[in-house]
Formats: sequence, structure tokens, C-alpha cells
Amino acid sequence: MAGNKCAVFLVLLTFTRTLTGGDTDVSCIFMETCMLPCSSEGGTAVIHWFQQSAGNRFVHSFYEGKDQLGLQNQRFRGRTSLFSDQISSGNASLLLTKVEVQDEGRYKCYTSTENGIKESFINLKMDAPVHEVDIQREGNTLTCCSEGIYPEPKLTWSTSPPSNVNSKCNTRMQETEQHLYNISSSVTPSDSETDLTFSCTISTRRSKRSVTWPSTSSKQSNSGATVAGVIAAIVITGVVAAVGFMLYKRRKVQQEPQSTDSDSAYVSKCFMNYSMKTCLKIKPDVYNDSN
Ligand SMILES: *[C@@H]1O[C@H](CO)[C@@H](O)[C@H](O)[C@H]1NC(C)=O
Ligand SMILES: *[C@@H]1O[C@H](CO)[C@@H](O)[C@H](O)[C@H]1NC(C)=O
Repeated sequence: MAGNKCAVFLVLLTFTRTLTGGDTDVSCIFMETCMLPCSSEGGTAVIHWFQQSAGNRFVHSFYEGKDQLGLQNQRFRGRTSLFSDQISSGNASLLLTKVEVQDEGRYKCYTSTENGIKESFINLKMDAPVHEVDIQREGNTLTCCSEGIYPEPKLTWSTSPPSNVNSKCNTRMQETEQHLYNISSSVTPSDSETDLTFSCTISTRRSKRSVTWPSTSSKQSNSGATVAGVIAAIVITGVVAAVGFMLYKRRKVQQEPQSTDSDSAYVSKCFMNYSMKTCLKIKPDVYNDSN
């Protein structure tokens, strides 16, 4: 009875999951390869992938045991594939190469096999992260810029010590042919602000980069060296400690037979001569001896 209830519950759960199953979000990186997951019920399959948000464009189809690309939208030509060796075991995932901004949107995966029909939806989001931020000074003006970013980046200035620099900057954004963004922003420090350190930060939902003027690159490489030094010191200390511990343990194992006269003698000796931790490690041997 309990088993029955459980089964009913599971069926209901699966059913509601299918009905309400929300879209799966997939993040893809500009010009990289991206996998849109989808599974079928397994068996001989008909698979259709559509870009639903762009008027149900045909992305990829598979039936009668092979890819069927006759109706494929030309935007996807040569960029799609399925995992053909895994289709019969229920893998209907789509591999999309050289992802572009226009690939963003909602995709529908339709699968039909002798075991059932399934539809699932993927929301493809694309990111072109902020790679490099450049800062330059011309005359009295500082210009900060970066290119090829998606989605629309945010740019903020800050100074150390703080000032109201953000209210005085002049930021421009341009869209490239590939629908990415170039961004640049200029500030002209007043005479009283020429001693400040200026930082420019450009960020998107998944990336963030800053640069500072006057350049801190020498400082950065110094701190890089310091970090490397500290890491090296930690690693060396660790290795020395490990080797020391091993030598110590080995010596101890060699000494051990002489010190196992009786349990009580052994334990008390252990406490007197060694640290608590070492003593605990030896305990199983003590038990073995007493058995
Ligand atoms: C399909 O196969 C690919 C490649 O082995 C794998 O990475 C992916 O997780 C599989 N997807 C599903 C839904 O089984
Ligand atoms: C964006 O930046 C790139 C790289 O510098 C440049 O080739 C392109 O012309 C720029 N596009 C626009 C619209 O400013």
C-alpha cells in the first residue's frame, strides 16, 4: 500500500514536473561552443530543435536515423550537431558552435520516440566578457575604454581619495556589427584633482575589470611576486614538515617494538614522551597487542 502511494506520488511528481518544467537557462560565451541540453525517452527518435523566440526557426532535425538539415535556417548552417552515438539512449542535446548574439533566445527541443513525446525549453544567454580595459592620458584628459562586450556594460569611475568624478565623465557606447559593445569614457581632472588616483571599472552581469591611473602595474607585479614568494614559502614549509613528519614516524615505528612491554607501560610512556596526537595514532596497535 505504501509502495503504491509512493508510485502514485512519483507519477504525479513527474507529471507536474513535465507540465511546469521551467525553461533551462544556458550561458554561452561569444564565439565558443555551447551545449543545449535535452533528453528524449530513449529509443528510435525524431528530434527537432527550433529557435522559438525567432519565429520557430529550424535549427536542427534528426529522423530516420540521420540529420535532416533541409529546412535548417541558414544562420545555423554548419554550426549544429547532435551526439549521434547517444541519441538512442535518450540524449537529444544540441551542440552549437561559434555562438553569436543573434543566437540568444528561447529554444524548443521536441523529441518523439516509441516511448513518448517530450518538449523542453532552453533559454540561451550569451556573454562576451570584459577582457581588457585600457586607460590612456591625452593632454589633461583620461580615457578609459574596452571593446567587444555583451550584454551592455556599465562603466564607473572612482578616485582615491574619493571625489565626485562620476558626475563629470563623458561615456560613449557603440554597437559593433556583431552586436557587441565598445565603451569609452573620459574625465578631465580639475587642477585640484591631479594628485588623485583614478580607477575605471567596466562590468557586465558576468565579468568585471578595473584599471587605475597612474598605472599600478609595477605595484601589481610586485604584489604578484610577493604572493608567489608567500606561496613558495608555504609550499616549502609544507614539504619540509611532511618529510620531517615521515622521518619522525619512521623512526618511531622502528623504535616501537622495544616499548611494548605491557599496555599500561606503553600508554603511559606514550603520554610522557609524545604528543597527544601521536599517541592516538598508536592506539590501535595497543588494542591489537592486548587481543
Ligand atoms: C549528451 O552527451 C554529451 C556528450 O557525452 C553529454 O555531455 C551530455 O551531458 C549528454 N546529455 C544528456 C541530456 O544526456
Ligand atoms: C569597436 O572596437 C573594435 C576594436 O577596436 C573596432 O575594430 C571597431 O571598429 C569598433 N566598433 C565601433 C562601432 O566602434
